[in-house]
Amino acid sequence: MTGSIVTVEHFIAEQEREYPEATGAFTDILLQINLAAKVISAAVNRAGLIDILGVIGSTNVHDEEVQKLDDYANDVLLNLLRRCGSLSGMVSEEEEGFVHVPESRDPGPYIIAFDPLDGSSNIDVNISVGTIFSVYRKRSDGTRVRRRDLLQPGSEQVAAGYVLYGSSTMLVFTTGRGVHGFTLDPGIGEFLLSYRNLRIPSPGKNIYSINEAYFDKWTPGQQRLVERLRQPPPDAPSFSARYVGSMVADFHRTLLRGGIFMYPGTVAKPEGKLRLLYEVAPMAMICEQAGGLATDGRRRILDIEPEGLHHRVPTFLGAPDLVEMAGRYLADD
Ligand code: AHG
Ligand code: MN
Ligand code: MN
Repeated sequence: MTGSIVTVEHFIAEQEREYPEATGAFTDILLQINLAAKVISAAVNRAGLIDILGVIGSTNVHDEEVQKLDDYANDVLLNLLRRCGSLSGMVSEEEEGFVHVPESRDPGPYIIAFDPLDGSSNIDVNISVGTIFSVYRKRSDGTRVRRRDLLQPGSEQVAAGYVLYGSSTMLVFTTGRGVHGFTLDPGIGEFLLSYRNLRIPSPGKNIYSINEAYFDKWTPGQQRLVERLRQPPPDAPSFSARYVGSMVADFHRTLLRGGIFMYPGTVAKPEGKLRLLYEVAPMAMICEQAGGLATDGRRRILDIEPEGLHHRVPTFLGAPDLVEMAGRYLADD
């Protein structure tokens, strides 16, 4: 029985042995993410117990300063990743500009982008949240981090993943050789391999996931698409709707069960809400690696060149036939 237990550390070391081009520098980043995930997971689990949810600067019942959980998660990631020595720059949802690391040592060969806590409006109500990350190679030589190091299309990612703080904590990632999932065993504090080579079921569950309250703000094509999903033709399967409001949770369900996740633009805000570098591109890499499709309704997400660190894109992720169907409806707009 215990012979089948594979820890994430062991899995990463195996992958490194198998692929001679892999470097220890890259392994270091994944191991620091593994550690950060455990630290953040512990804080998320305690969130209802200790008054960590207050506003920054306020005090809890113990008269201690409290920090919002998304700022805490950001600090954990910045501090742990800064130390690994493999990075020269970091991009975070919580930081306006990029973070240069480290000031004094040689520049590391990689750049990382992350959303420290995704779905943060759900923390106060005990609903799943997540962390998303994306790793690129630094393209330019020298110590300076340049625009072209930070603004790379998703197709250049060398790794992407997320942590879901749900009924259990899971780490799901890809290094371009399939998608693998690890579940945190809280008893031993280790992520154990629970899904090797995840594939989006297709046909899977017919689930569409979208914030339907924005219906009146959508374009006619987006409205017709959702009307088609609500009322399929007589010979076509019917759909259910699920929407958590934490992209990591909604995407994780899509990965495991099938269906489509959508965060489209509106007429007034065609770019939508989700950010390309640290939310959509990493999910798109995972989605494609699992046999799915990821588009902005027209273009492949992984081909889009980011125009800024916080560039937003409309998002369609999921089973290939459903993402293709979305594209056909949006083509009329
Ligand atoms: P974040 O908490 O990192 O700002 O991201 C929240 C995002 C994403 O998780 C989710 O899919 C989306 O916001 C939900 O937005 P709506 O409330 O507009 O549906
Ligand atoms: Mn987010
Ligand atoms: Mn966030």
